Amino acid sequence: MSERKPVGKIMIDEDQIRAKAAEIGKLISDKYQGEEIILVGILKGAVMWMAELLKHIDNEQCTIDFMSCSSYGSSTKTSGVVKINKDLDADIQGKHVIIVEDIVDSGVTLTYLKKYLANRGPKSIEICALLDKPCGRKTDLVADYFGFEVGDQFIIGFGLDYAQKYRQLPYISYLEDDDEEATAE
Ligand code: IMP
Ligand code: MG
Repeated sequence: MSERKPVGKIMIDEDQIRAKAAEIGKLISDKYQGEEIILVGILKGAVMWMAELLKHIDNEQCTIDFMSCSSYGSSTKTSGVVKINKDLDADIQGKHVIIVEDIVDSGVTLTYLKKYLANRGPKSIEICALLDKPCGRKTDLVADYFGFEVGDQFIIGFGLDYAQKYRQLPYISYLEDDDEEATAE
């Protein structure tokens, strides 16, 4: 069992996240007016961001689905290999797919998922991440929409976990000390 670690200060509060979801939701709504879109949330980290964003998608043809994947290994650094734990229920052929993710760190997960889903004939694929951590990048992946940029810290809250804990925090924070074991899911 992992030890409890000190939670840092509030970096991004609920009001800021809500405002950002409204802003990005409008961009997506305007861009895909009258088109069929499917938001694909990546479990479990994206649950809160997905729910918040979804409230601001003004499109009667919008549907949602979820996938679960994990990078092998169990450290606060991403290992580089991606495993699909739960695939989509929906058919994405001919639809505009928007992958909704909590954070882009190395970019390995999303680079893999984008290729994986592109094989199913979607009309387009975009990425919408709550957070972007550019200092962790190991690929050339760029999120089409992202809420906030973060630095070289282990982020928790608003869906993001450390060893499956802290997801319920209604704000974005960080671990004071992040060099111990954790899951990166
Ligand atoms: P990737 O390194 O971009 O492939 O990110 C893989 C996954 O690692 C993300 O979807 C997150 O779930 C997790 N992750 C990366 N950085 C953090 C962090 O700072 N806090 C919590 N989870 C993280
Ligand atoms: Mg994730």
